[in-house]
Amino acid sequence: MSDTPIQRAEALREQLRMHNYRYHVLDDPIVSDAEYDALMRELRSIEAEHPELITPDSPTRRVGNAPSEKFAKVRHPVAMLSLGNAFDEADVRAWRERVLRLLGEDAQLTFTVEPKIDGLAIALTYVNGAFVRGATRGDGEVGEDVTANLRTLASIPLVMLATGSSDGADSAIPTSIEVRGEVYMRIAEFERLNERLAAAGERVAANPRNAAAGSLRQKDAAVTASRPLRFFAYAVGPFEGIALNSQWGTLQYLKGRGFPINRDARQFTDFEEALAYCHDWMRRRDVLEYEVDGVVIKIDSFGQQRELGVAGRDPRWAIAWKFPARETTSRLINITVNVGRTGVMTPNAEIEPVNLGGVMVRNASLHNADYISQRDIRIGDYVTVKRAGDVIPYIIGPIVDRRDGTEQVWQMPATCPDCGTPLERAEGEVAWRCPNVAGCPAQLIRRVEHFVSRGAMDIAGLGEKQAVFFVEQGLIKDIADLYVLQEKDLAALEGYGAKKISNLLTAIEESKQRPLTRVIVALGIRFVGESVAQALTQRFRSLLALMAATEAEIDAIDGIGPEIAASIEAYFQAPVNRALIEKLIGLGVRSEAEAQAEPLGDQLAGQTFVITGTLAGMSREQAAELIAAHGGKVTGSVTKKTHYLLIGSDPGGTKYAKAVEFGVPLLDEAGLLRLLGSVEPTPPDDGVVGQIAMDL
Ligand code: IVH
Repeated sequence: MSDTPIQRAEALREQLRMHNYRYHVLDDPIVSDAEYDALMRELRSIEAEHPELITPDSPTRRVGNAPSEKFAKVRHPVAMLSLGNAFDEADVRAWRERVLRLLGEDAQLTFTVEPKIDGLAIALTYVNGAFVRGATRGDGEVGEDVTANLRTLASIPLVMLATGSSDGADSAIPTSIEVRGEVYMRIAEFERLNERLAAAGERVAANPRNAAAGSLRQKDAAVTASRPLRFFAYAVGPFEGIALNSQWGTLQYLKGRGFPINRDARQFTDFEEALAYCHDWMRRRDVLEYEVDGVVIKIDSFGQQRELGVAGRDPRWAIAWKFPARETTSRLINITVNVGRTGVMTPNAEIEPVNLGGVMVRNASLHNADYISQRDIRIGDYVTVKRAGDVIPYIIGPIVDRRDGTEQVWQMPATCPDCGTPLERAEGEVAWRCPNVAGCPAQLIRRVEHFVSRGAMDIAGLGEKQAVFFVEQGLIKDIADLYVLQEKDLAALEGYGAKKISNLLTAIEESKQRPLTRVIVALGIRFVGESVAQALTQRFRSLLALMAATEAEIDAIDGIGPEIAASIEAYFQAPVNRALIEKLIGLGVRSEAEAQAEPLGDQLAGQTFVITGTLAGMSREQAAELIAAHGGKVTGSVTKKTHYLLIGSDPGGTKYAKAVEFGVPLLDEAGLLRLLGSVEPTPPDDGVVGQIAMDL
């Protein structure tokens, strides 16, 4: 890079302008935020060292972007500001210190904390209660008139509600008001939209934000109407004819006038509690229906807000605590296929290593062959990579405009990469499979890994390395062979002395006593995890009875649907599996449930429970037994009919989210024990029984 600083600065400005345009005007960025920030940082540092090179039109001098030509321009009567960023708790504390310095150390502060939903900001003008104009934020000064498109959003009132006052707030209709908020798309709806676009051969959006922006900025309002856009209000611009004095009061007022406000907004007088709530948010991020890129903390009082004023573009009275990014771009180096324990081929993307929310990501899922072809993902493409919580990182789609023509179209290999058997695809299924269930070494290795894993037979000291060794040495041909391994077989295991070998053999032997539920999980039947296995144990009480069960009998169990029932029946019908189970039983693996506990009571008669997370004082199996012994039932998934979700630490996102959706009361261990007490319990009004550890 022998550019002079002046050349480099000019090149950077040009790139940044192009990226700004792609992001703000075309809603189609081709670099990640991190790459953009790096360019911006480089330009800033050149300009800091050579102030004479600063030009008035440098991207460092301006935030946001001018509106496109597609829509009429609207000048915002009061600028739409942006927000200063905090990246950790210390930044937020520093912000509060500054607020106190400006207002005086003894100022009484009240805060609101609101999720920062990742969409795009808009301003809606109402005159005498009627919606007359809606505009995008644009560069904050001038936006675009998208009134016709906004009219198609069901969540935007065309007329303000005149009746009903919420929390005693002013319920008058203002002569004029500008309501500000965010247009966004839910994650599930975004994914469905992408499926639809991919199937129609159209370009998929990289994330819900771009999808929302692109959907709103359509020339044809009918297209906008067909998109799952939602709106929530979080602020007001100029208004006349009403009195509003605080952020919290404004939210309540807007709610009363028919505007959706975020139900997770909270008001705090205690700063530490506000911070704790922010931390909760960071953890809850994975169970939300929409993307949040942070939380916004605002000083509640409008009087104090006015006193604090604005610095540059950012109000001093608010700050955005940004969460680590979970999406970035990288280059797809190669596509390989992983063979799963049921023979399913999962294409795996090898990407140039990138840091994604603090984790180096080298591999990402591509789901299946259709996913790749529908999105036209090619080897060599720049791709958008996403990682959310525990989910394996996956590729969202290619950045088509970054192609240089050398990209290669990929195809699913015709044969299994491990055993060479021609792959098959069942009618109506997306998955390609290796049909060599009994003989494919890769499938057996995966099955062994699953069989010995913690939630299954939990055999300490047996992992991938040992599984590969046993299979490659021909020591085992199926999982039951684990129980015939002998000392001499293990002698060749690298790094294994007499002691380690004997420990491993003991661990294998001891695993024969695992409860029936674990044995069922260990078999690795498709869709059968712990909760389904628990339900099967309760109903059939032995492997042989389960093996003889009909699909209808299985389907009749609470919490087990037809798809799961069909999969279980298919598993037990296959002769290889029946032989395997008989072999396991013959080798002494437990095949019957422990004797059913004597009924201890009927306090829970007719009540259905679902269990999630790790309980502190008992295992989930013990909790299930306890519930059953008191007449209750444990099922696998939360439905409207579930009475309680028994919740431990690190609960599963789906169960928790469903419980919240259906209003199923949450119960912790203490709450369960209380239900079993002699006093007939009544759930409190808020539907939360017991002390819920809110570490979600
Ligand atoms: S307040 C002066 N509240 O974040 C304060 N903004 O970086 C202006 N956003 O342009 C915004 N959720 O698009 C506010 N609860 C919330 C928000 C929110 C999302 C977005 C909005 C704004 C950007 C500022």
